[in-house]
Amino acid sequence: MSAEVSRCGGVVLAAGLGTRFRSDRAKVMHQIGGRTLLRHVLEALRPLGLSQVIVVVGHQWEDVAAEAASAALPGLDTVLQAQQLGTGHAAAQALDAFDEAVERVLILPGDTPLLTAATLERLLVTGAHASAALLTVQFDDPSGYGRILRDEAGHVLGVVEEADASETQRRLREANAGMYLFERACLAEALERLAPANAQAELYLTDVVGILVDDGRDVRTVSTAAEEVSGVNDRVQLAAAGAMLRERTLDRLMRDGVTVLDPATTYVDVEVTVGRDSILLPGCLLEGRTRVGQRVTLGPYTRLVDAEVQEGASVAQSVIVGASVGPDASVGPFTYLRPGTRLERGAKAGGFVEMKNATIGEGSKVPHLSYVGDARLGQGVNFGAGAITVNYDGFAKHETVVEDGAFVGSDNMLVAPVRVGRGAYTAAGSVITKDVPDDALALERNEQRTVEGWAARKREQRQQRAGR
Ligand code: UD1
Ligand code: CA
Repeated sequence: MSAEVSRCGGVVLAAGLGTRFRSDRAKVMHQIGGRTLLRHVLEALRPLGLSQVIVVVGHQWEDVAAEAASAALPGLDTVLQAQQLGTGHAAAQALDAFDEAVERVLILPGDTPLLTAATLERLLVTGAHASAALLTVQFDDPSGYGRILRDEAGHVLGVVEEADASETQRRLREANAGMYLFERACLAEALERLAPANAQAELYLTDVVGILVDDGRDVRTVSTAAEEVSGVNDRVQLAAAGAMLRERTLDRLMRDGVTVLDPATTYVDVEVTVGRDSILLPGCLLEGRTRVGQRVTLGPYTRLVDAEVQEGASVAQSVIVGASVGPDASVGPFTYLRPGTRLERGAKAGGFVEMKNATIGEGSKVPHLSYVGDARLGQGVNFGAGAITVNYDGFAKHETVVEDGAFVGSDNMLVAPVRVGRGAYTAAGSVITKDVPDDALALERNEQRTVEGWAARKREQRQQRAGR
């Protein structure tokens, strides 16, 4: 197919606001599965290797154009449709932007995030030697879609929009998916003949189908499954599409060897990777560019955003954002790892621990109730329960260094900048403000005073007072 594809261009219509979304953001910028609707459509186009792809932008065109560009699709360009006069008008703006060599154009709406390349390939094959081919779909409830009109022999006659359809036409369940392959010259000529003589006073791209049929052109249809061409026109449909995409992603992971205990409560963005024999317990949300290695146990109730968790590690009931967890390390429960944190092999961030911009060396343990920020912990460090780094003096952040094999006592405050040397100890309850040399003990607290019999005398006094 590649020779044909080299003369084929793509158009994505993304200029509309999406009034039914009732949003300040353009519809195609809303996300499911961690990607915008527009990006999903561009990803479906990517494997086709079309020579040029034109995205028609209008509402919030700067944002939409930037989002399109970020897909880094070869041959991608944007065209501005300053006024949204209809899908036919939008297609006309795009046509002028193609190179001479482009002979066929594939036109897609920007709001069909479940679309796959395989379906587009069928459309390309069917349309390769016709004037036009369009995707159609059987819906139980085709409300909102244009309906496909056919003659008694089943030949397509045209498309009628719901707003313009008669009662009988509305009962037709074959809908227009809004995806077409046109011979460029035919399309250009037909677009010039469009008129806004319809209920919405728009130039309908759908009218091109009827025009070509009337001209005696070869117009074909390709039918496809409902879910993948569903247009997302409001937030109810956004949620429905999100659910279908999620199911697709989880199915893929499970077939690749990941155990998902409860798919109903597991949310995985499309770009996330999870290695074989990893287990997702209920309530996991894996977002953005998260990477999970093999034999990892996540959850229950764990959220990872742009995080990395390497093989054999486990994370329970925790939130990890922009941080990395090394092989066989363990995190949680109730732990918050913030950007710039790196646990090395076998390290531990235990219950009620928060970390930010911290490196925890191989086998080092921060087991309970700690805050570790702007810190470098070497290997084999033990960071006592409740010990924290005091990294902020109200003006700037300072670094704490704890060298290999050091033992930080419980409830310490390490007031940065400060260094605890290799193999050194700090006594429980200390406020460490000065560097501790290698192998030393630093002890900073008042000596305990014990008053014998004090409590007994106190109780006696109280009793006497009560007896009076
Ligand atoms: C359109 C089709 C309908 C089909 C349905 C499939 C028309 C007239 N109708 O209806 O037959 O069943 O898609 O989902 O084509 N857009 C522009 N510029 C405009 C108008 C729209 O770029 O001037 C873009 C929108 O941003 C959107 C796409 O075109 O991404 C489709 O527009 P939308 O308003 O969603 O069309 P539907 O009413 O769903
Ligand atoms: Ca639509």
